[in-house]
Parts: sequence; structure tokens; C-alpha cells
Amino acid sequence: MASSFTVCRLHTIGRGSLVKCLQKAIHFFTGILEQTLLLCKKKRMDSNLCMLSRQRDKNRQRDLNTFFYESYGMYAVVEFANQESVASLLEGTAIPSISHESLVPFKSRLLSMRNLASVDLPNQPSGKKRQAQTSIPINELIQRLSKEESIDQQITSLTEAYQLTEENYRLRYLVCSLLKDIAAGFFPECTIMPFGSSVNGFGKLGCDLDMFLDLDGISGKNATMPKSGLFLEYQMKRANLERIVTQNILSVIGECVDQFGPGCVGVQKILNARCPLVRFAHQPSGFQCDLTANNRVAMKSTELLYLYGELDPRVRHLVFTVRCWARAHSITSSIPGAWISNFSLTVMVLFFLQRRSPPIIPTLNHLRDLAVTFFPLFKIKSRGQESVIEDNDCTFVSDFSKIRLESNTETLEQLLCEFFEFYASFCFRTLSINIRKGKEQNKPEVAPLHIQNPFETTLNVSKNVNASQVDRFVALCQESSWLIQQNITAPSEVVLKERLPSHLGSIYLLLPSQVAAIKSPQRRKFEPASERIKSLLESLKNTNKQQKSKLNSL
Ligand code: CTP
Ligand code: MG
Repeated sequence: MASSFTVCRLHTIGRGSLVKCLQKAIHFFTGILEQTLLLCKKKRMDSNLCMLSRQRDKNRQRDLNTFFYESYGMYAVVEFANQESVASLLEGTAIPSISHESLVPFKSRLLSMRNLASVDLPNQPSGKKRQAQTSIPINELIQRLSKEESIDQQITSLTEAYQLTEENYRLRYLVCSLLKDIAAGFFPECTIMPFGSSVNGFGKLGCDLDMFLDLDGISGKNATMPKSGLFLEYQMKRANLERIVTQNILSVIGECVDQFGPGCVGVQKILNARCPLVRFAHQPSGFQCDLTANNRVAMKSTELLYLYGELDPRVRHLVFTVRCWARAHSITSSIPGAWISNFSLTVMVLFFLQRRSPPIIPTLNHLRDLAVTFFPLFKIKSRGQESVIEDNDCTFVSDFSKIRLESNTETLEQLLCEFFEFYASFCFRTLSINIRKGKEQNKPEVAPLHIQNPFETTLNVSKNVNASQVDRFVALCQESSWLIQQNITAPSEVVLKERLPSHLGSIYLLLPSQVAAIKSPQRRKFEPASERIKSLLESLKNTNKQQKSKLNSL
């Protein structure tokens, strides 16, 4: 089978049988199924990014042709082995009859299942569970982590709890494919691909869905013009700038999404941004979506992040932990503003890992050199893998086997502690973070936080961040570094009256901090931390008591 999405083993069968299959699947579930999403087999998976979704846990690809989840209502994703099966099902699907409203007659693969009371949906216990599509609340996470025996295990467990599931990947690709159906009205040859944390390996359940409308693949682009004689070319509308074309296309597609897209609400066209986009909520999946076009460099940085995450498992674990820590302390936010973004944080973790001794991951320049073979005899470079996008050098090796890693054996616990230490004393005032060189550089421009964009090297990834957010970040790094060190090294009676048992390790880093009140890093206060730890211990004790008494009462 060509794709990981086609694990379903429903074969081409008649419409009647399909409906039966569907009903059978639904009968697995206790409750009322309001909506059904259908995903037909994708014809081909034509980009590296598609491979990303197949990444880890290949062995998890069992017979997962249907799964259920809750968004605004109960949904089922049903995958079919081929498009004919879907076409056959759609053929017999009715247009809703409504009396007080009018319908936009746009047919999508998002269907509702109505029970007209003549069919009994038995309330039998389900063999199939609802798949959660959002991450567990922080309190639940803390409870879960408290059961682990070491900080390293907690960090691994945190990643497992937060990372995207196989089903969530499918849902993300499905939404892209539903969006493509809308865009295909104008551009039948377009593709819509996910990028960013949906596919770079660092996505947390509930993260937004960044999509890229790709029109570069349309046929005729590479058709060679004859040197003489007659030939035909398409008449096409022109504009002065590529940016204007992108804005116009997104404006029209955004309008269609708004007017025709079932379940697409809150559509905002943000066309004057550096990277124009259409933002909307896709209610059937529960995803907040950002649709961009002509954004190839971001696709490259997605691939780069994916590569770094795959080089060493500690990379993903550390990124997940730092992102979770940052969210718990409101360093990051889901609302756009002067905060540090998850992307910036990820680049900061990568930079830190490049600065270890020996480094855990190589610099981007090294990955670039590996992609370009040098023939000393002829003093030339082979440029086979070179990738230049809008004058930006986006070349880096894609063959993992060419990358030799140094043998760094630091544990996750050490790395987490060192991460906080590193940024607690980093000179943000004068230095810029640069993963291309793997070395801090003098800031090329005034900005509270300067992180060089790996490919568009004149840009600062964290341009939006203000000085007080950087101060908060530094203060929290100082506090967290201090807290984690007390737990690792100091005798209990010296530092905290109520010392946290060592197996609770990193949990207290996720508790709300008093650092918000700290204006400058010098005015550090550590007392509140011990208070927090006290209340954590109390709450864990209480939960354990409750669980015990529940068990006793059974
Ligand atoms: N990106 C970029 N430069 C920026 C911001 C974003 O190149 N200044 C690219 C990155 O590839 C990033 C992607 O756009 O991964 C999506 O951006 P965003 O949604 O902000 O970040 P994510 O990595 O997707 O993280 P999150 O989980 O917060 O959505
Ligand atoms: Mg994103």
C-alpha cells in the first residue's frame, strides 16, 4: 500500500454493503453518531513531509480503518481502500431537506448520519474507544508523572502523553484533503500539505494545523518552449508582484472556505502579514487552521526540525519538556502577542544541544556541507542536492546515514538542568542565537531576543518578543535551574524544608511560578517554590488517599 493512511481493508463493494459496513462500525460505539468523516485513499504521497507522518511507531499501524472522537459532536473517521468505494457511498447520500434556511449546495466528504428512529443503535459496550484529540490537562499530567521513578522517565512519559497520535496525524491529513477539495474548484492540480508542528515531530495534541497551498506542481511549468515555430501557452492573469498573486489567491480561497466550507468558522484573512494567511477554526476536527501559500521556506524548516528530532531521541524529549514547562509558566501562549513562540523555543533547544560538549546535534552549516560533495582534485562542488528558495540557501543533507554524531552520553535530567543553566546566564542583551553556525553571534540589529531564521538569515524568528518576556524567561530559567539542582544535589535540610522526594523529579517545574511578579532577574525569590512544592505534595497525597478509598469501597 502506498500510504500509511490506507490501512483500511474495505474493498470495492457496492453502496448497500458500504452503508452496512459503516453502520457496523458505528454499532461498535455507545452513543449517537452525529457526523461521519470519510477519507478516501490518497492517490500518491509525493513529498518528504508525507513520510513524516509515518515516522515513529510503524508497528502501531494496525487495522485502524475507523476511529471515533469527540469535537463539536461525535465523529468517526472512516478510511476506504479506494476512491470508488467513497464515490459509491456518496452517490446514495442525500441532500438535507430543510424548510427555514437555504443550503450552499457544496458537497464535501463530511457527512452527517441521521437516525430517523426506525434503526435501532444498540447501546452495547464499545470495543472501540473514543480517541482523544487534545492533550491531557496539566494536573492529570502531573499525576501521571508522579508515578514514574526518575526524571528521565518522567520526561519520556511527558513526550508520550503529549505527542500527536497516529489518529491525529490522519485527521490532520484529512483536513488538508478536505481543504484541497475546496481549492481544487479553481486549481484542480493544487496540493495542500501540512507543515510546522503537525509534521515536524514536535507537535503536541491540540496544536494548530499549518497548511501550505502548493501551486508549483501544476503541469505546463516545465514544458519546454520550442526555439522557433508555433507553440501554445495559457493566457493568464498577471500581477506586479508574486506577493500580490499569493494575497489574491488566499483571499479567494479564504472566501470560499468561509462561504462554502462545512464546519469552517471564524475565517480571518490576514493578508498583510509577512507571510499572508487565512486563519479559521475547523469545527469537525477541532483544529485551529492557518492556510498559507508560497511558503516553501517554512516547509524546509519543518523538514530540518524533523531531521534534528530524529537524529537523537533526547532532542524531542527535551523540546517537549521545555515547551510544556514554558506553557505551564505562560511563557508561550495560544494567543499571538509579544511572547516567545514554540518555534523559537525549539530553535533555542536545538542551539543549546549544539553547544554541548561534545555536541549532541550538528550545526546547519555542517548538514549543508554534507549535502554538497567537494571534489578537491577539480576544486568543484557537486550541487546535486542544492536547494535555493527565493535566494535563500536551504540546502541540507537528507540522507541520515551521512550524519556522524558525536558520543555525548548526558542524561535527560542533566540536559534539562543544563538547559536552564545555559539560558539563565545567556547574554540576550548582545548575542544572537544561530543554529546555522552553532555559535552565538553578535546581534545584527536591536531586538530583546534575536534568533536567526535558519534559512532566511536576515530575519529574526523572535522579532515579536518584548524585553519583559525575555526577563521573565531568564528569571524562570534561573528559578528552574535552582529548583532542579536542589533536588538533584543538595541535602534536603539545607534548602527546602519540605523537600520533594527525588522520584517526583521534574514535576515541580511545571507548577505555577511566582516569577511573574519578578521584574528583574536580580530580585529572585525562592521561597514561593517551596510553598508550591508543599502544596504539590499535599495534592498528590490527597489524590492517593482518594484513590485508595475508592479501591477500598469497591
Ligand atoms: N516559521 C518560520 N518562522 C517563523 C515562524 C514560523 O519559519 N518566524 C515556520 C516554522 O517552520 C514553524 C511553522 O512556520 O514550524 C509554523 O509556525 P507556528 O505554527 O508558529 O509554529 P509550530 O512549529 O507549528 O508550533 P505550534 O505547535 O506552536 O503551532
Ligand atoms: Mg503551528
